[in-house]
This record gives sequence, C-alpha cells and structure tokens, in this order.
Amino acid sequence: MRLWMILGALAVAVPAIPADISRNKNRGRGSMWWGIAKAGEPNNLLPMSPASLHMDPTVYATLRRKQRRLARENPGVLMAVARGANQAIMECQHQFRNRRWNCSTKNFLRGKNLFGKIVDRGCRETAFIYAITSAAVTHSIARACSEGTIQSCSCDYTHQSRAPSQVRDWEWGGCSDNIGYGFKFSREFVDTGERGRNLREKMNLHNNEAGRAHVSSEMRQECKCHGMSGSCTVKTCWMRLPNFRIIGDNLKDRFDGASRVMVSNSDRARNGNAIVSNSASNSVHGPRQGLGRRHRYNFQLKPYNPEHKPPGAKDLVYLEPSPPFCEKNPKLGILGTHGRQCNDTSIGVDGCDLMCCGRGYKTQEVIVVERCACTFHWCCEVKCQLCRTKKTIHTCL
Ligand SMILES: *[C@@H]1O[C@H](CO)[C@@H](O)[C@H](O)[C@H]1NC(C)=O
Ligand SMILES: *[C@@H]1O[C@H](CO)[C@@H](O)[C@H](O)[C@H]1NC(C)=O
Repeated sequence: MRLWMILGALAVAVPAIPADISRNKNRGRGSMWWGIAKAGEPNNLLPMSPASLHMDPTVYATLRRKQRRLARENPGVLMAVARGANQAIMECQHQFRNRRWNCSTKNFLRGKNLFGKIVDRGCRETAFIYAITSAAVTHSIARACSEGTIQSCSCDYTHQSRAPSQVRDWEWGGCSDNIGYGFKFSREFVDTGERGRNLREKMNLHNNEAGRAHVSSEMRQECKCHGMSGSCTVKTCWMRLPNFRIIGDNLKDRFDGASRVMVSNSDRARNGNAIVSNSASNSVHGPRQGLGRRHRYNFQLKPYNPEHKPPGAKDLVYLEPSPPFCEKNPKLGILGTHGRQCNDTSIGVDGCDLMCCGRGYKTQEVIVVERCACTFHWCCEVKCQLCRTKKTIHTCL
C-alpha cells in the first residue's frame, strides 16, 4: 500500500508529458468543431452546397465521430453549423473589440484550436467562447429549419396543434423558428465529447447550456394582420429568433458578472457537497438520450466564494482568473496589447491606461481615405467621392 502511494507520487512528480498536452486534456474535448468556421477556406465562397462542405477533408478533420454521424443523418446541418460558427466569431470579436483580449482567431490547422490556447484555461474568456458558439449553433440551426435548408426539420408548427383559445384575438400560424430542434441539436452536436466527468467539462457543459438558454428565452412573437386592406379581421402569430446581436449583448453582460466556481474537491465528490444534484436544467428538450446522458446536465456548481449565490442557468461560470493579456505569451496564445489602438479620454477598458497596461502610448495624425459625399443617381446608382480626413489615433507602446 505504502509502496503504491510512493509510486503514485513519483508518477505525478515526473512530468512524462509536456504541460501543454496535459492542459489540452483539461480543456475538455468538445472544442475542435469550431474549426469548421474556417475549414475549407479560401475555397468556400458562399453559397456553397451542403454537399461540398460535406466532402471537404478539413471539415471532416474538425469533427468527432458522432458529429460526422449527425451531419450524415441530417443533410444541411453542416452548412448551418458553419454559419453559426462564423456568426459566433463575428459576434465575439464585436463584443470584445475594445478589450485587451479581442477574440482573435487563428487560421484553421488540423489539431489547433480556432481561438488559440486561451481555451486551455478555464477563465472567463473561455466561458464566453463556449457560450457564444453553442448559442450560435442553436440559433443557426433553428433558423435553418424554418428556412427549409435542413432535411430533417422544418418550421415549428407545434403551437398550432394546440387547442385554439377563446380569449385571444389572434391565432398561431405561419412558420416559427424551430428552437426545439436547434436546442436539441446543439446539445447533441456541441456537447459531444464533454462528458461532465471533471470540473472543466462541467464548466464547458454549463456554459454551453447557458448559451442555449439565452437563445430560447429571447424568442419573440411576431404577428401579421390579414383581411381586407389590412383590417386585421384575422391575426396570425409565430415565434421568431432575435437578431444574434441581442444574444451577444446578453452574454457579454453575463461575462462581466460571471461566477467563479470551485476547483478543489469537487471533481471526486460526485454526490458530495461540491456537486449537488439538481434537476432544474433537466432535459425538457432531451432527445433519445440514454440515462447517462440525461445525468450529464444534472449538476450544480458551487461558488468559489461561499457568500455568493450558486450560478444560475443563464450565468457564465469560470474556474480561474484570467491572465492579464498585456504581454505577448505564445505559450498561452496571448498576443499582447502592443500596437493596439486605445482611447485617450476613456477611463474604461478601451482607455489607453488599461489597454496599454501602464506602458504608455503614442499619438499620431493619420490620413484616412473614406467614401463620402455620396449621392443617389436615378436609377440606381450611388456615387461617392473619396475624402481624406485627418484623424488622431493612439496606439499602445
Ligand atoms: C486583436 O488584437 C491584435 C493585437 O493584440 C491584433 O493584431 C488583431 O488584429 C486584433 N484582432 C481583431 C479582430 O480586432
Ligand atoms: C473615447 O471615449 C470617450 C469617453 O468614454 C467617448 O465619448 C468617445 O466616443 C470615445 N472615442 C472613440 C473614438 O471611441
């Protein structure tokens, strides 16, 4: 017994594998598919046929076996997933454009992570990446269903099959975005490889679920009047997804207020204090899941600070503080803020003080060439002049 323990300790003390690889293992295994956003570039000029995306070997390489099966069984989904992944990148870069970490992506290479090594850390930025990508797939698939580009789903007509109401002056009708299918598909596809067996995988699962919850809860009712000259004798309504910007804004708010959850003890304590079983986020939308899979979402993370509330279903969770992002650090995939533009009058994160991490900044007058004085000519042409304007920009040293 004692000898066994000593050997165990030795095995830990001698790093047989480089730190980076053990970090990768920490990450959870559900992040490779993000690469689909850039797979096939530069040949994938839109619109590409679902088939061409399907054949692409770089796409194939980003997917796990189960994800390939889902793609085979549901023609059209790959295109929607790729669209979602690109939407996630665009939204992330928009939300973080004025921050030290600006959500930059790397060119896709087999085995490399699209967002770089930062996702090997369980920090807030990583939480946001998981949530926004999961949300974007949910959004994109739900919309693709109603647009008719996925063979195995369509508009959501389930509202219409319910009994009509006496009190309402409108009826369900038209084509609702299929959030049920989008939610289910995102769980199956995005959560592949996140078995929830350690804390990092639980963090990923929680943030993936949070992303989906933000999409579901922002579904809105839209209505249309029918009848003689829009007299509205008949009014039909359907459910529509919000613009993805709304989801991005909401998730950014959750990033700002993200909850740090516990690292210690929790991994082993399956039913211990750290992880209390909770069915709040159970599988309303659960597809043909085995028992094990259903349990995947039944956990409650414990706040790092015992005075804080446990994280809610729409909160983002993280495990460790973010690195400062000030200096270039290839090991962590951090570019640093040298050369970044900053705002000399802002006291926020885009201000030169914070953006440049106290190193100072330089100020330059630059000439920007822009289209200007545009006029509309009948019909149908817009003519512009090119104007040169002087601008003052500040960049971090
Ligand atoms: C992010 O910042 C880096 C420098 O830190 C810069 O090279 C890159 O262009 C920026 N990317 C975006 C999307 O703004
Ligand atoms: C710089 O920050 C100030 C104060 O927050 C703001 O009013 C201004 O619009 C910002 N300038 C630019 C170019 O973003």
